[in-house]
Amino acid sequence: MTLTVIHDEQAIAGRVADLAQRIAATVPSDLLVVGVLKGAFVFVADLVRALDRRGATPEVEFMRLSSYGRSRESAGSVRLLGEPPAAISGRTVLVVDDIADTGVSLDFARRFFVERGAAQVLTCVLLDKPSRRRVAFVPEFVGFVIDDVFVVGYGLDDAERYRHLPYLATLENDGR
Ligand code: IMP
Ligand code: MG
Repeated sequence: MTLTVIHDEQAIAGRVADLAQRIAATVPSDLLVVGVLKGAFVFVADLVRALDRRGATPEVEFMRLSSYGRSRESAGSVRLLGEPPAAISGRTVLVVDDIADTGVSLDFARRFFVERGAAQVLTCVLLDKPSRRRVAFVPEFVGFVIDDVFVVGYGLDDAERYRHLPYLATLENDGR
């Protein structure tokens, strides 16, 4: 396997700061941030602290969605695993995920919060692969747009490996 860095720690920190500035400028400061586990755990940790620097006071929740299992391809149907986040009704919800790929997971999450009475549902992804979309889904806040490449690090995994890397890298089989 070959790792090739596409965005280093400094580049990610710069984009996270930009995103926080844009979010704080357009979203009520008492927003509810809902991170999608597991992939968003690093991004959420950095984003909520960047939001604090912009004067926002987000509440932070997490939700777990079933999708990939251990394969790299989306299963196509999504389920909520475990308890849903509390107190959604009337809130501005910002769903935060590592990446929008087919869009199936975030499309599900958006509907989930709309159906439970959120006043407004917005989505924020660190990475967007628009060429892979299978549903009409457009995130409001995007860190980096990327081609159809498989990426690991900064929370993203390949079969649970590489989440701990502080940078984003493409992962390629060396054909062995
Ligand atoms: P969806 O296909 O947009 O529903 O994406 C579902 C999930 O697949 C994302 O939240 C990621 O956890 C995972 N995923 C999609 N593309 C990649 C990738 O390039 N690397 C690692 N995980 C990915
Ligand atoms: Mg994910």
